[in-house]
Amino acid sequence: MCGIIGCVGTEDTAYRLVSGLENLEYRGYDSAGIAVRNGQDIRVEKNAGKVTELKHAIVDDVPRGQLGIGHTRWSTHGAPTDENAHPHTGETGEVAVVHNGIIENYDELREELEAEGREFTSETDTEVVPHLIERYQAATEDLTGAFERAVDDIAGSYAIVAVAESEDRILAAREDSPLVVGFDDDATYIASDVPAFLEHTDEVAYLQDGDTAMLSADGLRVTDADGDEIEREREVVEWDAEETGKGQYDHFMHKEIDTQPEAITNALQGRVEDGDVSLENFPPGTFEGVAAVQFVACGTSYHAGLYAARLLNKAGVPANAYRASEYASGDIPATGDTLVVAVTQSGETADTLSALRQAQDMGARTTTVTNVVGSTAAREVETPLYIRAGPEIGVAATKTFSSQVTTLALLAERIIDDVAAGTPREDRASYLEALQRLPDQIGEVLGTSEAERVCRNHVHKEAYFFIGQGVACPVAKEGALKFKEITYEHAEGFAAGELKHGPLALVTPDTVVFAVFTGGERDEKTLNNAKEVQARGADIVAIAPEGVDVSACTDEVLRVPATDADLTSLLTNVQLQLLSYHSADMLNREIDQPRNLAKSVTVE
Ligand code: AGP
Repeated sequence: MCGIIGCVGTEDTAYRLVSGLENLEYRGYDSAGIAVRNGQDIRVEKNAGKVTELKHAIVDDVPRGQLGIGHTRWSTHGAPTDENAHPHTGETGEVAVVHNGIIENYDELREELEAEGREFTSETDTEVVPHLIERYQAATEDLTGAFERAVDDIAGSYAIVAVAESEDRILAAREDSPLVVGFDDDATYIASDVPAFLEHTDEVAYLQDGDTAMLSADGLRVTDADGDEIEREREVVEWDAEETGKGQYDHFMHKEIDTQPEAITNALQGRVEDGDVSLENFPPGTFEGVAAVQFVACGTSYHAGLYAARLLNKAGVPANAYRASEYASGDIPATGDTLVVAVTQSGETADTLSALRQAQDMGARTTTVTNVVGSTAAREVETPLYIRAGPEIGVAATKTFSSQVTTLALLAERIIDDVAAGTPREDRASYLEALQRLPDQIGEVLGTSEAERVCRNHVHKEAYFFIGQGVACPVAKEGALKFKEITYEHAEGFAAGELKHGPLALVTPDTVVFAVFTGGERDEKTLNNAKEVQARGADIVAIAPEGVDVSACTDEVLRVPATDADLTSLLTNVQLQLLSYHSADMLNREIDQPRNLAKSVTVE
């Protein structure tokens, strides 16, 4: 977690750092800070709260200098206070450091450093790093050597970026936390993610685990884990800087919900040909010999995995979705004929990466379905499959869920063809046509949705339940996750048939139940489950395709266009996203940056 930026080479360093941090705030927003080197010393400005507060704090006296680092924090060690905000300095203030990750042996390092008489001013694990650098620099006077020795002492996950009073270079190191370098004509950047500097450059190079890097205004030098100097390949990212702005929207989440037609169009681009699936890098036969499929993921991506597992199960392929944090324990067996698919928007989620590595250790075949080119997940599998959703800034995942499910639906068809147990659907051509109609149909939902009006009727209730069967079940769970994440109201998603086995005890007239229908054969059962809650006095809101009669349980319906029952949930999901968004807006919540959360969770 946390967002890091470093920049060397321009006069307006502080401005570039702060605007970079604004674009990284989705990674954490408990506190923010910058350190700028002006040739004589390093000036550190930091405070608890968001980047805006930092911006206000320095507006009348902007730090000047050609070199600096910045950080926006999601707290792991120590409360979100001014003292715990990064950058951290050592005793002398000659070195400043920002860090993303967790230093696992910080307790013992801190004890050791305190025994040497060094004083700490924060509760963070990070503060040991500047002290270590100072300790080694005092012994050798060589900053790079001191930095490398400090990094050697650390165990855990880290992206560390440091500046020193004595040097016109930025030093960096990574292990299990992302760092990407950006190259502009006049400056070099380093950051946790590309949006931090995308307004300046789209030419990047990704650092790899074990790398130590040295950035100057005219470039980059990298040493790999073996200590050998190495070139990290430069590439041009396809994201557009405009995509990382809010445009005319009040919130990124609203923009991202609205841009789902484009996102899905991109996910499908060139991947359906002559009534069949044509997945680049996954030609027919790729999955021959696979006996079972396991999806590993967290949060929203886990729901996308559940959806995909259902699609495979329906075609006879053994498939399951696992929460990555549970899978990583190693209790779930996988062998050489198991295909493990890590589903991850960011490609950096620590739990998902652990699960992926666990699967690889067990000898399973692996791939990832991810949004971020060059992410750790993408680099750790032989062939990644990209969802091509473009940058998603709102902490609540919206368009990336739709793009994940779309991409996974295509991947499922390829797997079904290749594996012995798979029975391809007879109506594949019309199913794929239905998939290609989704962008227009989502556009229709967006243009006609009455979700905002419906929210007004229910916004002050005690609890919100979401129910669905079959492929609507993961979408009900996703609806509940979104709702709780941004409204802070109690929300749960259930398989509709499970209500009567316990959760029904929670249903009162102050409960709202959102019942998700697909237009498929299980709808009758969902209707009966909805009637059961209605009999207990709860309000029912049905989310249903045109033509499905839900009048037996409610008059309040949010409609979506009719389509293949396996795909309807991608449309009903949009209504659920809008329900969450408008409810949160009415409640005045921090929609893009919900409390206690961060978008990219790079700690286990
Ligand atoms: C959902 O809105 C959240 N942002 C969260 O559940 C997210 O999906 C999860 O942390 C996994 O992230 P990833 O897809 O980047 O791996």
